[in-house]
Amino acid sequence: ARKIILDCDPGHDDAIAMLLAHGNPDVELVAVTTVVGNQTLEKVTRNALSVARIAGITGVPFAAGCPRPLVRDIETAPDIHGETGLDGPELPEPAIELDRRHAVDLIIDTVMSHEPGEITLVPTAGLTNIAMAVRKEPRIAERVREVVLMGGGYHEGNWSAVAEFNIKIDPEAAHIVFNEKWLVTMVGLDLTHQALATPEVEEKIAAVGTKPATFVLELLEFFREAYRENQGFDHPPVHDPCAVAYVIDPDVMTVRRAPVDIELRGALTLGMTVADFRAPAPADCTTQVAVKLDHERFWNLVVDALERIGDV
Ligand code: BDR
Ligand code: CA
Repeated sequence: ARKIILDCDPGHDDAIAMLLAHGNPDVELVAVTTVVGNQTLEKVTRNALSVARIAGITGVPFAAGCPRPLVRDIETAPDIHGETGLDGPELPEPAIELDRRHAVDLIIDTVMSHEPGEITLVPTAGLTNIAMAVRKEPRIAERVREVVLMGGGYHEGNWSAVAEFNIKIDPEAAHIVFNEKWLVTMVGLDLTHQALATPEVEEKIAAVGTKPATFVLELLEFFREAYRENQGFDHPPVHDPCAVAYVIDPDVMTVRRAPVDIELRGALTLGMTVADFRAPAPADCTTQVAVKLDHERFWNLVVDALERIGDV
C-alpha cells in the first residue's frame, strides 16, 4: 500500500478523504496533520480527532500544525463548513490524544524516517504546513514520492473569480510548494467540480447502512445546502477525497503535464494557479493538473471504503 500523510482542515470533504484513506487497502495513512483553513486550527484539529473515532482510526499519529498562514490574515469558510468547521452531524468526543510534535515536525520525521520515495504527501487544505516543512528540512523535497494536493484550478475559482480557497488563503505557501523539486499533482476545481454527490451516489452510500456511512450522509446533507446557497450548485462537489483517490488509482482521472505557478501580485488574480498549456510541457516540468474524473469509479472507491470500514 502507498503510504500517505494527509494534511487537512476538516472540513466536510476532508472528513470523507480521511474515511477513504482509512478504508481503502491500497493506501496507508501514516500520519494526519491539521492546519488552519476551513476553521481555526483548534476547531479543525478537534474535528480530525472526532472523525478518527467515527472511522475507528487508531495507531496513527495526529498532530496540529500552523495556526495562521505565512503572510496573510486568517480567512475561514463558515458559509461552506459552518461555525464548527464540520456542521451537521453530532461529533463524538475524541478517543485519541494528539501527538506531542508540531505537524511540521511530524511531517519531516515521517518522511525522513522512511525510505526515499516511500511517502506521498496529500494536502487537502492551505499549504502552510507543507511549505514550512520543506523550508525547515529541504531534503524532504527529494525524499517524498510526490505531492498530490487538492487546490487551485486552471479555469475555475471559488474564493475569487480565478482563485481556489486552499491556495488563496496562503498563496505564499502555495508558491513555495509549487516551485519545489518534487512532483506536484494539482487536483483542482476543474476536476473536483465533477465529483458531485448526486442523489444516486447518496443512495449507494445509504445502502452501506453503517454508522460511518450515516455520518457521511449527514455531512453531505449540510454540504448540499451550503453549496446550493453560496455557490449555486445542485449537488455538492466533494473535493478532497479526489486527491486520495488519485493516489489509490491514478486511472480514476486523467492528468496533463503543464507548468503551474502561483500569482502573488495580481490585484484581481491573487492566488491564481496559472497553468501554461502551450504544448509541449518542457522536459523539466514537475507539475501536472487533473482534468477529467471517472465519476462512477471515484464514488465506487468511496462506497467500497465505507463497506470495508463497516460498523465501528
Ligand atoms: C477546498 O476548500 C475547502 O473548503 C475544502 O475542504 C477543500 O479542501 C475546496 O476549495
Ligand atoms: Ca479541505
